[in-house]
Amino acid sequence: MASRSLISVFLVLLIGSGINSSATLEPIIRLPTTRATEADSRSHGDEDGIYCASWHLAAETNNAGGWTQIPSRCHFYVKYYMTAKRYESDCEVVANFSLAFASTVEMAPDGKDAWIFDVDETLLTNMPYYIDHGFGSEVFNESCWDEWVALAKAPAMPSSLKLYNALKQMGFKIFVLTGRREHQRQDTSKNLELAGYTGWEGLILRGASDRGIPATVYKSERRSVLSNGGYRIHGSSGDQWSDLLGFAVAKRSFKLPNPMYYIG
Ligand SMILES: *[C@@H]1O[C@H](CO)[C@@H](O)[C@H](O)[C@H]1NC(C)=O
Ligand SMILES: *[C@@H]1O[C@H](CO)[C@@H](O)[C@H](O)[C@H]1NC(C)=O
Repeated sequence: MASRSLISVFLVLLIGSGINSSATLEPIIRLPTTRATEADSRSHGDEDGIYCASWHLAAETNNAGGWTQIPSRCHFYVKYYMTAKRYESDCEVVANFSLAFASTVEMAPDGKDAWIFDVDETLLTNMPYYIDHGFGSEVFNESCWDEWVALAKAPAMPSSLKLYNALKQMGFKIFVLTGRREHQRQDTSKNLELAGYTGWEGLILRGASDRGIPATVYKSERRSVLSNGGYRIHGSSGDQWSDLLGFAVAKRSFKLPNPMYYIG
């Protein structure tokens, strides 16, 4: 009795699977999809998942140009991207390409081979702040942000810390160039040190005279000062195009992902 019902279950499964495989066409090539896209498809509809992955690509490549807020249909996508493994993995790939390039640089004995790092979402990750503030879906609140900076509690981006230490070991002079303001110098250097960063050659912040100057111009001017001082800027790492573009640009620029905010 038991074996007979088992056989009939088996037959049903066989017939069922036969019907399935003849009724559905398998795609010839299965393109990889992000986990965020898959999760989004399940809970928010396929169209949002695909649209938001495309929007993200357009934002990272700067095809989107300036933007002030994440499209509202992409809040879930950005949250998932930032908190699942994908963000960390994307940053690690950037760090690995950076290191591969750095190891091709012929270092001169004059100590003038330089690398520039941005701070927020580059050396440090402000994930704890953005978990509490909607991953860029809320309008930026400067006083709230300043309170967070003063805590000096942002963790290191693990792949950036590894890259930083490797570059230091190779003899690069490291300059930290940030849009944070001069009055945040103590908190910023304290945070960097607590996160494990030491031995930079310079920490450059926005001074009073830089007020109102676009980020691209401010950062270019400061790179200019370095290259006029004889530094060869081989690499520059930042999550914003305004960290990387303009004049006195590095030989190679490395763009870290950031779908949460755009600084023009
Ligand atoms: C980055 O490089 C390290 C060291 O070579 C390697 O273990 C790791 O798998 C690489 N990461 C990625 C995402 O390729
Ligand atoms: C910004 O944040 C501060 C404190 O963190 C709060 O008091 C203020 O209401 C916020 N402003 C807006 C416009 O949300």
